[in-house]
Amino acid sequence: GFSWKLEDHPKLPKGKIVAVVVLDGWGEANPDRYNCIHVAETPTMDSLKKGTPEKWRLVRAHGTAVGLPTEDDMGNSEVGHNALGAGRIYAQGAKLVDFALASGKIYEGEGFKYIKECFDTGTLHLIGLLSDGGVHSRLDQLQACASENGAKRIRVHILTDGRDVLDGSSVGFVETLEKCLSDLWGKGVDAQIASGGGRILISWYELYNVGCFLQNDWDVVKRGWDAHVLGVAPYKFRSALEAVKKLREELKTNDQYLPPFVIVDESGKPVGPIVDGDAVVTFNFRADRMVMIAKALEYEDFDKFDRVHFPKIHFAGMLQYDGELKLPSHYLVSPPEIERTSGEYLVHNGVRTFACSETVKFGHVTFFWNGNRSGYFNPEMEEYVEIPSDSGITFNVQPKMKALEIAEKARDVILDRKFHQVRVNLPNSDMVGHTGDIEATVVACKAADEAVKGRPTLFRPTHLGFAVDYAVMVIEGGHRVVTIVKEEMILDSIEQVGGIYVVTADHGNAEDMVKRDKAGQPLLDKNGNIQILTSHTLQPVPIAIGGPGLVPGVRFRSDVPDGGLANVAATVMNLHGFEAPSDYEPSLIEVVNK
Ligand code: 3PG
Ligand code: CO
Repeated sequence: GFSWKLEDHPKLPKGKIVAVVVLDGWGEANPDRYNCIHVAETPTMDSLKKGTPEKWRLVRAHGTAVGLPTEDDMGNSEVGHNALGAGRIYAQGAKLVDFALASGKIYEGEGFKYIKECFDTGTLHLIGLLSDGGVHSRLDQLQACASENGAKRIRVHILTDGRDVLDGSSVGFVETLEKCLSDLWGKGVDAQIASGGGRILISWYELYNVGCFLQNDWDVVKRGWDAHVLGVAPYKFRSALEAVKKLREELKTNDQYLPPFVIVDESGKPVGPIVDGDAVVTFNFRADRMVMIAKALEYEDFDKFDRVHFPKIHFAGMLQYDGELKLPSHYLVSPPEIERTSGEYLVHNGVRTFACSETVKFGHVTFFWNGNRSGYFNPEMEEYVEIPSDSGITFNVQPKMKALEIAEKARDVILDRKFHQVRVNLPNSDMVGHTGDIEATVVACKAADEAVKGRPTLFRPTHLGFAVDYAVMVIEGGHRVVTIVKEEMILDSIEQVGGIYVVTADHGNAEDMVKRDKAGQPLLDKNGNIQILTSHTLQPVPIAIGGPGLVPGVRFRSDVPDGGLANVAATVMNLHGFEAPSDYEPSLIEVVNK
């Protein structure tokens, strides 16, 4: 029968403290001026790289290595953390929806049947991210859903992207979608875009809180609700193309942040509010940014904001977004069933686990890491801490984000020696990279690097009482003027407790901030400006191991050259003194006699 018990590793001891650090959006790419990681001062990560090939290597973090449909699919945090935690490669939402559409199974499922019940008299509404980024949703899947379903009246509510795809690409996507919808007119289907706004309207940011409940910015979601459901928005246009073009030009905003708008007919009436008897499908396959709006669409009892009117609809998600909450209760495609994750195994085998990040990445290092499962496996053995993110700003304004707070928390926990695994996500290179602000992204990368190890801080007055592990007096002209201090962070504390560290990333982002041609040269737009890349990349990511607790002779194997994020789980299990289950992707390390 099945057992959670893991075999002992023949050569590696148990009980070591292992820090697992995930730098979000930190890939490896050629050094040039658009590689913010290269431009930034990153002494810690640079020094880890000197351990190549025994203690530092690259792993694949995109495409099929993380369960995405093709090698053209960039990595993302959901699939990256799923792979890191689960140790196996699961076909992910994008791929599952592709299968379901190609086989026609999507139309045979319970979810679609439920939606179809409204088709005689009601409208089918499709809400989601208008993008071909493949992270949350895909335009071709939306087109397929809109096309062959039997609905007589369709209204699409678009969220413009500009984050997983180039800013400004919304215009082309709207054109493509409008063409697709007008083709439906020829087939007797009344189909058009009814409302929209920047992707920020979907969420800011619902998370899978354990123990602590932060006030998320429901106000943002309410503005989306008003536009999509009630047909009320500050901007009204006759067409979506006009809306997107004008709002971009006149407000000088990016696709990500377009304000909500509704499309109105010649009499000024919104063309597609959601009313009783309608069907609604949220067509994103990825969960995290759909959870808030899904709650508003699904829950009878709801007090996060005043919905004004709660229409009686049949609502389904493209996938079920939260398996614990069973939200939504109807969905078109079943989500990947990720089970027996490394986190669950380790807890069953006595590994006390601590996880921490700030709000925007907290769910990644807990929920996604644990196979899209919220909560603890065993609250006696685990503690998850969410540090509140700054809200109401874009992160280029505060590129250091909460990196130091996260690292200090990890440091304190490591020094306390109460947990065996201390796992953190440092969000800076990803979140600031997504803003497209190159200078701020350089600051972000430096901040993340400092959080990993510790930062020598120059010119700090001596009287500040913060944590230091050493202090050097600087004497100038006989006066003590400043103290150079070194604030101790994650790897420093691992050093002190005789522990082990694993430093890696979930996908690329900040290492390449410009769109390139096939030859790798930056692409210019029609005005001769470089095209800023706000998205993730196809690049591999580093993984480094080390620390005084590492048994001499532990090194990266050379026989898993194609290793990816899914190989990290077995590696971490080994470092905790266990063999990984046999169906896990192989460990990246071996122990040679020294
Ligand atoms: C987002 O939702 O912020 C981006 O589309 C993807 O970013 P993530 O995969 O790093 O969360
Ligand atoms: Co990202």
